Amino acid sequence: MISLSPPTKLWERAHGKLAPTHAMQVARGWLASEAWGLLMLGNVGRGKSQAAAWLYVWMRQEALREAQAPGVYRRAGDVLWLRAPLLARLDYRERADVLSRCARAYGLVVDELGGEADQQGEALSDMLEERGDAERRTVITTNLERAMFGDRYGDRLADRLRAGGRDEHGGARWVVEIGGESLRGLSSEEIERLTAAE
Ligand SMILES: Nc1ncnc2c1ncn2[C@@H]1O[C@H](COP(=O)(O)OP(=O)(O)OP(=O)(O)O)[C@@H](O)[C@H]1O
Ligand SMILES: [Mg+2]
Repeated sequence: MISLSPPTKLWERAHGKLAPTHAMQVARGWLASEAWGLLMLGNVGRGKSQAAAWLYVWMRQEALREAQAPGVYRRAGDVLWLRAPLLARLDYRERADVLSRCARAYGLVVDELGGEADQQGEALSDMLEERGDAERRTVITTNLERAMFGDRYGDRLADRLRAGGRDEHGGARWVVEIGGESLRGLSSEEIERLTAAE
């Protein structure tokens, strides 16, 4: 079975108390907005995937509420988690199946975009553009730098990300570089102290 769920550790922690990291502050702001897409860029260990897992849990609850709302007959559907490097391990048919499920899902997290094999970059940007056109909630994390991201996934996706609003420089409001130090290996008390001081 192909797993399209977040890693257990991130999922479990998403139900507990999370420190107010930069990534978490961005995640909360994006949720409150109407924007379809959030792209968090940044170096390793900054808390991007943890914030994405928190958003995954939230989107699932939203999907359930919508499915149960009176008078709503359409199925709100899945919320999925795709680790981009997974695509390289699938055969052609599995990959096509995963990408079409991801295109249609109510909510989607693509973790570690840029970690897929080069040949799959185009299929991923197609899928993400389709979600942008349908304005389906989509969260992306990547270690790529902004310019590299643009080169690899192209203007069509970048422009769709601007549809969620612009910042003061005219760039996409919800394309955000996550700063700070790596949080890996720190205790939750240390992370709490570090982020409360910011
Ligand atoms: N909001 C938070 N509260 C408490 N701990 C956190 C929080 N965010 C991250 N952490 C801790 O920091 C570790 C690294 O976070 P995470 O895996 O989200 O980083 P990342 O930015 O996705 O890194 P990479 O780019 O390497 O995938 C987590 O395993 C967790 O232990
Ligand atoms: Mg990560």
